[in-house]
Amino acid sequence: IPVDPFDLTIFGGTGDLARRKILPGLYRRFRAGQMPETSQIVGAARSDLTEDQYRDEVHEALKEFISKDKLESNAVDGFLSLLRYVSIDATGDKGWSELKEHQRGDHISAFYFSVAPSLFGPIAERLHEHGIADASTRIVVEKPFGRDLETARKLNQTLAQHFDETQIYRIDHYLGKETVQNLMALRFGNVLFEPLWNSQYVDHIQITVAETVGVGGRGGYYDRSGAMRDMVQNHLMQLLCLIAMEPPSQFEPDAVRDEKLKVIRALDPVKPEELVRGQYTAKGKTPSYLHDVENEDSRTESFMAMKVNVSNWRWAGTPFYLRTGKRLRARQSEIAVVFKDAPHSIFGEEAGRHRNILTIRLQPNEGMTLGVTIKEPGPGGMRLIDVPLDMTFADALGAENDNVTDAYERLVMDVIRGNQTLFMRGDEVEAAWAWTDPIIESWESRDRRPYPYEPGSSGPEESAMLLHREERRWREIR
Ligand code: BG6
Repeated sequence: IPVDPFDLTIFGGTGDLARRKILPGLYRRFRAGQMPETSQIVGAARSDLTEDQYRDEVHEALKEFISKDKLESNAVDGFLSLLRYVSIDATGDKGWSELKEHQRGDHISAFYFSVAPSLFGPIAERLHEHGIADASTRIVVEKPFGRDLETARKLNQTLAQHFDETQIYRIDHYLGKETVQNLMALRFGNVLFEPLWNSQYVDHIQITVAETVGVGGRGGYYDRSGAMRDMVQNHLMQLLCLIAMEPPSQFEPDAVRDEKLKVIRALDPVKPEELVRGQYTAKGKTPSYLHDVENEDSRTESFMAMKVNVSNWRWAGTPFYLRTGKRLRARQSEIAVVFKDAPHSIFGEEAGRHRNILTIRLQPNEGMTLGVTIKEPGPGGMRLIDVPLDMTFADALGAENDNVTDAYERLVMDVIRGNQTLFMRGDEVEAAWAWTDPIIESWESRDRRPYPYEPGSSGPEESAMLLHREERRWREIR
């Protein structure tokens, strides 16, 4: 369904995120016919570029990030013709009146702040000073949204001076992933799962976001953040919320976000002995973390595993195990809901132990698998085996259904539609930091080095121990 015509300005329009994600995503929506041709995309950045030069840059980005067979010349030309460029000084006067000329009152107007958070305030101020923003303007902001509770609060206050909460779209791109949204469809669109979705039937839940990439190239940022700030406080926390939350009464922004907030507030502090931090070493030609961040003394973690308890009636006694890391064996993001054993086995000891596991795969190979126990076919008697009931979206929905829609393009279209459901509210972000801060403080005060792990492994041995000592084990990363 096409959206209404819009003027979208991207501050940081020549930056990495704009090149890699935002502009290619917008192109795909244009090509899919979702974007009215009277829309405008205005790149705004410091560089002195002409409009043609900017179009050339964006064209290069499309060639780099979109497969060739999707770059038909009429689609590309059509898209490039929507682009404008304004050379702007975020903290000065240059460019603002020109930017104003690009705003047409009868279009939806949105501003994507794809810039350092220190520029949020100055840009917001100028948008108002120059009469560019009004009560209908939408703004999009990116992580990192602060580096602790205090800085997040300040950012929220800065934005609140200029915009109402209903105008602010805080992106966590994990919420734009197909499978993440499917998690809600699975839980609240089926009668099958929800009755079992509690500590009576679920033994534990694992959330894994494993990456093969290292931090080379963005070491400066990463070394000041680490896995906790870069991934856990936002992406893994959001996944946890969607699994753990109570059914909202409607699929409506505040109803959903109220329920997520309750989950964050129900999280127990994490005990130091239930948390493992790791740092990758060198192997063969792969440089170590310390080398990647050019800091021999760094104690920042590139891997993190922990046990999290959600203290409420639904989840008391069912731990959530979270882990994420760089340079692991495979790129694999998944949620595994491990159900309890059947209360009584009528098949005797030799039938073995069988557990239902629901695996929700975010990437690669998006889909879900439910492991069910059946009789082993054949005349061998009543022997049990586990088989997967598999739903891979690409197979089930057909290749034609282009559900590889990137998270960013989905979310940007939601901004244009004015739907905040998949965006974080200010109080949610603050609550997440309020939970994260003491955990970070506790390891900083003990000044421990992260455990080393080899590139291509599943993280440090200690991470496996975290589950072993409770007679559980991580699902394999492969
Ligand atoms: C970003 C993190 O938010 O998410 C990166 O800053 C990480 O460090 C990335 O690599 C992972 O996103 P995705 O979509 O590739 O899983």
